[in-house]
Amino acid sequence: MDHKSEELTTIVIFGASGDLNKRKLIPSLFSLFRKRKLSGGCRVIGFSTSKWSHEEFREEMRTGIDAYYRSSFEEQEWETFKQHLFYVPGSFTEGEDFKRLAKELEKSKGDPDNRLYYLAAPPRFFPDIVENLDEAGLVHETDGFRRVVIEKPFGNDLQSAKELNQKIHQSLGEHQIFRIDHYLGKETVQNVLVFRFANAIFEPIWNRNYIDHVQITVAEKVGVEHRAGYYDQVGVVRDMFQNHLFQLLTLVAMEPPASFDADARRNERVKVLNAVRPILAEDILRHTVRGQYQGYREEDRVDPNSQTATYAAIRFYIDNWRWHGVPFYLRSGKSLAEKTTEIAIQFKAPPHLMFPMPEEKELTPNILSICIQPDEGVHLRFETKVPDTMSDRKSVDMEFHYAESFDGLIPDAYERLLLDAVQGDASLFTRSDQIELGWEIVDPIIKGWIESEIPEMSFYKPGSWGPKEADELIERKGRKWLATCGMH
Ligand code: BG6
Repeated sequence: MDHKSEELTTIVIFGASGDLNKRKLIPSLFSLFRKRKLSGGCRVIGFSTSKWSHEEFREEMRTGIDAYYRSSFEEQEWETFKQHLFYVPGSFTEGEDFKRLAKELEKSKGDPDNRLYYLAAPPRFFPDIVENLDEAGLVHETDGFRRVVIEKPFGNDLQSAKELNQKIHQSLGEHQIFRIDHYLGKETVQNVLVFRFANAIFEPIWNRNYIDHVQITVAEKVGVEHRAGYYDQVGVVRDMFQNHLFQLLTLVAMEPPASFDADARRNERVKVLNAVRPILAEDILRHTVRGQYQGYREEDRVDPNSQTATYAAIRFYIDNWRWHGVPFYLRSGKSLAEKTTEIAIQFKAPPHLMFPMPEEKELTPNILSICIQPDEGVHLRFETKVPDTMSDRKSVDMEFHYAESFDGLIPDAYERLLLDAVQGDASLFTRSDQIELGWEIVDPIIKGWIESEIPEMSFYKPGSWGPKEADELIERKGRKWLATCGMH
């Protein structure tokens, strides 16, 4: 059922006292309100265990707004917006509390009565919330849509993801479920498809004949901070690879969909994961590196003998016609030298070198960098002649930066995703088959690390680029890790 944003929507946020709501959801809704993107209006009901009144909830949410807004806004705009915020205190496991929620929802129904339930609560409550919504009669689409947005992590492994899918399907149709991965909401991530398929010059060379390898880096400067207790149960592969890095991988590697239709795009993403070669127990040592930053075990609420990886580098192969033999190197970690998310496509060296070159000198291959954040843009590195020499060459970068070419700030990923969920566009949300395939790929790696203790945990210095074993993983045929984004 499609919905126009001209219709009133009520958004219920479970876990309304949490960080995500304050830092991202309410500020994004405020921004959509200011841009008049939800022209039919929206009503927000916060639901969580804190015993707040409507007014206290509004005051709490105001504190997140200041931190989010880098541009100024009129105080009057907030005053108007906050009149649309309401609060119901309650427990995620108490059916009675959902009946009180139902009463609040009845108070100012729209016509049609559209509702978006956003699960920003701890994941262990997802099944209870859906079941209680169902029992309170809140998910049946009789007079408007009922959609549920589910935050990550969606399960902890393949088994639990399947169970969760099964459980929520007892109450909801797949068309009502919006599994969120905020990476897909990033403008620069969406630009990967535009870059690849709205330009004719890249597609002919986007394959094993011209590409030597692909790197995907999601590096973070911060450590685990206040989420240490949670993170220690999860680790980098579940936290970042199974979702965010795999989204980037599928966008770079997928075939052009026939249309912009949500399922056409989601089908192509799924096909990529289907073609990823499984990393078998005997290959784990050859294809993976796991690391932990020094000092991690001393963090508050981390097991002092923790075997949780805060860094991983993994070499994947995609067994299909386009990518046969092209390695995809994925790495991500906490407490690294820089915050940067980037995709680097390294092309093959020219087949014949006509230029006189000293033996020790090598040509730098062409590198195309898709910069996701904080630099948002695209760089292309190529060789150029040094003036006043016979044939000396230097690598230079041609750069595009969103900040220079477009006015205004790039909206936060959550703005796009909230708007899409209200409008019923599921293309930037993850279907259950993609989630399950993601787990199928990472489960044997995580299991192998724990059961066979291979490879050994490598410890790295906070502020470095990770363990040296990761350099060894990639250092073949002149390959090395690249960090090419940034304003130069
Ligand atoms: C979250 C992870 O999904 O993504 C965090 O749980 C991580 O550990 C965050 O810090 C990174 O998001 P971004 O948008 O800052 O790259």
